[in-house]
Amino acid sequence: MKINIFTRRKFIISASAGTAGALLSYKVPVFGISNKVSVSELALKGGKPVRTDDWMKWPVWNSDAEEPMLSVLRSGNWYRGWGTKVTGFENKYADLIGAKRVLATASGTTALETALHVMGVDAGDEVIVSPYTFIATYNVVFNQKALPVFADTDQETFNINPHKIEEKITERTKAILPVHILGLPADMRRIMAIARRNNLVVIEDACQAWLAEYEGKKCGTLGDLGCFSFQNSKNIPSGEGGAVAGNNDKIMDLCYSYHNCGRAYGKTMSEFSGYPFRGGNKRMTEFQAVILMSQMKRAKRDADKRLENALYLDSKLKDIPGIITYKLADGATRSAYHLYPFRYKKEYFDDLPREKFLAALTAEGIPCSEGYGPQYNDGLIEEALNSKGYKRLFSKQRLNTYREELKNLPDNDQLTREAVWFFQNMLLADRKDMDDIVNSIQKVFENRKQLL
Ligand SMILES: Cc1ncc(COP(=O)(O)O)c(C=O)c1O
Repeated sequence: MKINIFTRRKFIISASAGTAGALLSYKVPVFGISNKVSVSELALKGGKPVRTDDWMKWPVWNSDAEEPMLSVLRSGNWYRGWGTKVTGFENKYADLIGAKRVLATASGTTALETALHVMGVDAGDEVIVSPYTFIATYNVVFNQKALPVFADTDQETFNINPHKIEEKITERTKAILPVHILGLPADMRRIMAIARRNNLVVIEDACQAWLAEYEGKKCGTLGDLGCFSFQNSKNIPSGEGGAVAGNNDKIMDLCYSYHNCGRAYGKTMSEFSGYPFRGGNKRMTEFQAVILMSQMKRAKRDADKRLENALYLDSKLKDIPGIITYKLADGATRSAYHLYPFRYKKEYFDDLPREKFLAALTAEGIPCSEGYGPQYNDGLIEEALNSKGYKRLFSKQRLNTYREELKNLPDNDQLTREAVWFFQNMLLADRKDMDDIVNSIQKVFENRKQLL
């Protein structure tokens, strides 16, 4: 590969003072990949793309799911109460993640709703959450008629900044809901310490973090309860599906009861009959469980492959100017890589806007995304705060200070402007496919002037 020294020198000289420190430590990269990349026309400008091969489609189904699927179909036992598949899945998933118990649910959203309800998050409470997450994490708090209070994001880890949590605690705060976003584990040691000091419960949103690890333990088993999603795009998919994991029998019996219309369930509820508890129908079907049993067989192998490729990308991308790879939070030992993220610093690309960088990469055959926006500005929060219920539950003063706090999430705002994601299925490809990613980014960097 030709290294465009001249371009880099010019780039170093013209860099702003704010980036000087990073630039001083910048080394000319040694990719050792191929001679493919040189100054050449970008695909977006009509040049030859780095890659024309398709990426692996997702989800992938295995033929071993066919026979049990047909057998459930023919049996008519499609509901968990009449079958054995959902229970079988719960036991297997509990083994896989090292949890005492797992409850399967219809989705990740219903898993989180179940966990919040059972852990006592009620109308008028506040729950501290990360703003950098899929919208379901906001919604489930609103669905409890509670207030999602955002602690700013740590841009390096993409996760909630544990140092911003304590200042958000009020007398209404009931829970912390850390999200292991993109599969990157949140800083659970600090989060658990804050929770214990302030008598708060911790519900992990591990909906993107199957088999991710924090201090060697699986994400979703560190807090009071952990929640997972098995939606179609997920690393372990079943169309829709979710799970709550926990180690406390009483709490898990209540979770079961809540997800099953509030019917009494388990040894810890044996003195009850009928409907002693509020609840709803949040049950998983037998069909979902059949798919999950089959998907679980490949889960570890896939997770290892994603990890291997992600570490390779880390080692290559860190040498490209303006590409800031993610950092694992203190104590995080393994990411699930539902997405592979980095930050794009446009000042290193002569101020090429991120959308043009993304379009150029896509044209080179590398699908990518800008990720989450600042969703707290999208209207859903105002809609909730203006509702009759929220006006009853929270003082005018609290709602006004809350509105002001939404304007003070500078790190999250910046991350939403700079993030770039690759998708988990890309990480299941081969080393040469990872080289296509690296070469494409390098090509866009070296030829960025064509887009200015
Ligand atoms: C972080 C996070 N939380 C919650 C959910 C909700 O899961 P589901 O779509 O299965 O309801 C998702 C799903 O995308 C998610 O990514």
